[in-house]
Amino acid sequence: MERTFVIAKPDAVQRGLVGEIIVRLERRGLKLVGAKFLLVSRELAEKHYAVHVGKPFYEGLIRYITSAPVMTMVWEGPQAIAAVRQTMGATRPVEAAPGSIRHDFGLSVGRNLTHASDSPETAAFEIGLWFTEAELVNWQRPTDAWIFEGN
Ligand code: RTP
Ligand code: MG
Repeated sequence: MERTFVIAKPDAVQRGLVGEIIVRLERRGLKLVGAKFLLVSRELAEKHYAVHVGKPFYEGLIRYITSAPVMTMVWEGPQAIAAVRQTMGATRPVEAAPGSIRHDFGLSVGRNLTHASDSPETAAFEIGLWFTEAELVNWQRPTDAWIFEGN
């Protein structure tokens, strides 16, 4: 089972789309194991986006993610990292597949609504950065066997 880290970014919160994002991930069968609503500090934003230091969009990205509250989450499931990236859609909303969140609700790369971890290494780093072990909940769902099992 895999875990991945998700942010409903400030634009998603301001536009009242947090519920929509959660609904789509729940409906897909993914399991929520952690959630936290917070205003991101510059220090945390810089750690999270360290891979983008020096890129032309870096300063704007830090301003964006610290501009208003965000909803952070950890979701679990088989191939959760790839599944969530697919549900989010491509970074640029106009290149995102129809039916994805960024396609259905976005237009601009600078206001693309969500973040999701892009690899197992990134997921481990980001979950550790944003959540303590005690904030992650291990729980059983009766429906797991109907969603997670292979044949
Ligand atoms: P994310 O990390 O937020 O899940 O998005 P991603 O993997 O699809 O995209 P990434 O390349 O990691 O970029 C991180 C975020 O930076 C902003 N961005 N702006 N102006 C630009 O060209 C540009 N490129 C990236 C987006 O908010 C993107 O989600
Ligand atoms: Mg990324």
